[in-house]
Amino acid sequence: MAHPIDDFLFGFRPAQWFWKPALHRYLTGSWSRPRLRPGTARISGNLRHLGLYFHIPFCRRPCAFCPYNRVRYEASLYHQFEMAAHQEIDLVAQLLQDARQRDSGIDPRIGSLYVGGGTPTLQPESLARLILHIREALGQPSDVCVELHPSAMDDDCLSILKRSGVTLVSVGVQSLSDRLLRQIGRSHDAITALQSLRRAVACGFDTVNADLMFCLPTQEPEELDQDIRQVLELGVDQISCYPIFGFPYSELGKRMGYDKIDRPSGFRIRTMLDLIRQRSQDHGFVQRSVWSFARPQNQKFSSTTRHHYLGIGPSAASMIPGQFHVNTFSIQDYIKVLPHQSPVALVMPIHRQFEMAYWLYWRVYEMAIPRDSFRDLFDTELESVYGTFLKYLTKFGILDQQDGCYRVTEQSAYWIHRLQNEYALNYINRLWGQCRQTAWPREVVL
Ligand SMILES: C[S@@+](CC[C@H](N)C(=O)[O-])C[C@H]1O[C@@H](n2cnc3c(N)ncnc32)[C@H](O)[C@@H]1O
Ligand code: SF4
Repeated sequence: MAHPIDDFLFGFRPAQWFWKPALHRYLTGSWSRPRLRPGTARISGNLRHLGLYFHIPFCRRPCAFCPYNRVRYEASLYHQFEMAAHQEIDLVAQLLQDARQRDSGIDPRIGSLYVGGGTPTLQPESLARLILHIREALGQPSDVCVELHPSAMDDDCLSILKRSGVTLVSVGVQSLSDRLLRQIGRSHDAITALQSLRRAVACGFDTVNADLMFCLPTQEPEELDQDIRQVLELGVDQISCYPIFGFPYSELGKRMGYDKIDRPSGFRIRTMLDLIRQRSQDHGFVQRSVWSFARPQNQKFSSTTRHHYLGIGPSAASMIPGQFHVNTFSIQDYIKVLPHQSPVALVMPIHRQFEMAYWLYWRVYEMAIPRDSFRDLFDTELESVYGTFLKYLTKFGILDQQDGCYRVTEQSAYWIHRLQNEYALNYINRLWGQCRQTAWPREVVL
């Protein structure tokens, strides 16, 4: 059952033809659709609060629903990938050093390192070597976050992560129903997920996050309720709950013949999101982003908190002043071109207002838009660029203002997500879909 506003704004094509380009024009200052073309990475301008993202694209048994760039683990390919990744770390270090020599105003500190995948811990010793190299070549991140799969996180692995200075971990629990785990094709059962999560909590990381998926086919609200209660009782610091989306280029999407992103109904997402919020609040958690809930005192665990970030690894993206770029998705080509050539496949020049819109997108996703950090980054007031937009959102109760910060109200989180999906998921679908087909695309129009 869909909501009538859902249907009109997001399902009725002529309405979309009107408001989507108009909102894009208002936020980015341009009518043209973002375009990525082959080019080289170059840092120009004011790089601050830099984050690093490192992508390890291997899984023991890839899940059909998963949209991320990953292949089935194979020891010899992994070994070649590791060698290439060390070479890319040196290239990125050179890029940063050149930028600092050109512009002494660049802040050399690294805020955080987020290691995602894939399953980053298939070879924990290799991961430890890579993290150490990143620290030596690029600087000491204040936080190191690693994504974990319940079947690839034994005690040895966890102690290697601790010794490597990993401070935050995120465990992909997905569900605690064996029936649903089998149905979506996960390689672990519920008891493995629970035990793995318990061991991660016992290890004493600063933050342990559990990923859950909801709106799984045939999933009942009672089953989700059980999952959330059990995960919260284990003492995690944060939960991130994602409704399952069907991406046309994923194995599931191809099998089902999806020609666009398949989403659960808006009604189902909202009902289940309300349940997640209620259980999280009963447990003393606060909503930290559209999909995540955490202890009030805990720091946020997310790959998106840094405005500027540099990506390493096949398919890793980077957002730096003046440009957004993305590495080749092909692991073979990544290995082949390094160390002589950069693995960057596509570049999109970013003008100032586009960068502001990008910043705004992620702050809205995190449900808090701090005025001072906008001023700090762009040397101008938030209201001087987006005043009308913020005024109307506040008037309609979507935002309220507290302590120099606009906050997305809880009841509006779903609508914000729904609106953002219209841009972000479609952009991801076009970019990742084409990059998975061709190692070096000539052009991608988002
Ligand atoms: C890269 S994976 C996490 C780490 C690990 N590989 C695992 O699966 O346990 C990131 C998260 O994205 C979410 N995810 C993956 N595919 C999804 C989809 N099609 N729709 C919604 N969420 C998805 C899952 O919750 C998953 O834990
Ligand atoms: S969800 Fe995790 S384990 Fe499954 S394919 Fe994606 S990255 Fe690999």
